[in-house]
Amino acid sequence: MSTSGVSTQFTEAELKLLQALVYQECGMHFDERRTHFLQDRLQRRLKECQLDSFYSYYRLLISREGKHELAQLLENLTINETSFFRNKAQLDLFHKYVLDDLLRRKQAQRDYSLRIWSAGCSTGQEPYTLAMLVADALSYYCLRNPLLVQPPSPKPVVPPPWKAEILASDISYSVLRAGQEGTYTENQMASVDYSYRLRYFDKVGERYVVKKALKELVHFDFHNLKTEYLPQRNDVIFCRNVMMYFDEAEQKRLIEKFWRCLNPDGFLFAGHAESLLGLTDRFAMLHRNSGTAYQRVEVTV
Ligand SMILES: C[S@@+](CC[C@H](N)C(=O)[O-])C[C@H]1O[C@@H](n2cnc3c(N)ncnc32)[C@H](O)[C@@H]1O
Repeated sequence: MSTSGVSTQFTEAELKLLQALVYQECGMHFDERRTHFLQDRLQRRLKECQLDSFYSYYRLLISREGKHELAQLLENLTINETSFFRNKAQLDLFHKYVLDDLLRRKQAQRDYSLRIWSAGCSTGQEPYTLAMLVADALSYYCLRNPLLVQPPSPKPVVPPPWKAEILASDISYSVLRAGQEGTYTENQMASVDYSYRLRYFDKVGERYVVKKALKELVHFDFHNLKTEYLPQRNDVIFCRNVMMYFDEAEQKRLIEKFWRCLNPDGFLFAGHAESLLGLTDRFAMLHRNSGTAYQRVEVTV
């Protein structure tokens, strides 16, 4: 193998070794259809590290000093495609049914906190969409069910005594940084209508910047979904277009973990092409107006 720009084919055994390492580290599964992509990214990393053999690169990856390079490789293998208000039917189900159900149940228990987790949040469009929907749903809910609490001035995006936290996590540091920055181009804003733009974004030059008040609801953090230690006590988990890169065994493990990470009767939203059917009996499917979600089934003893 040379690093002079001439592309090299890796052997099947080399690719298998790398596939196994990637699977073990983050759950992503590269079958034959994605070998080409794996090969391409591997070539780029070797070039970047100025290494000229697969085995010297592999040795680096599994060494203590190679932790940073392993993170770089995983980052290069993730697909970060995302958009604001992705899958409108599902978000309508979240906004109009799930949030209403949650707020009623919580208020009955005098619990005024809401915790939503966007697992595999990419560059932030999903968690900020959720933050906008939660802020609007809470304002509307408080209008219909006023609590005798004097709102401070200026009016906060989340009316007191309610508190909302959106946890946004990913395995890629570069997308987490972009999310934290919260700056988007006109193209990226295409699916954000003007009432949302006006209330939740500032226009700075050609770009849109998430307003501080909305940003404060979203907390970005690194979490690898492959690990056992994941954020607990969530009311809702969004994990969309992530599980599709895992094989069935890893999907089943993740669904079990999500069950444990949810509060009783909590909700899980998966991607359009990801179904929990046949993978678990721990969740019941909700389907309304083309939107699908899953609700945690409680174990009776
Ligand atoms: C296609 S994007 C989906 C973004 C967003 N959820 C959506 O549906 O628009 C998938 C994201 O999952 C992240 N991801 C992949 N494997 C992961 C893992 N093991 N742990 C955490 N995040 C992971 C990727 O870095 C990527 O940002």
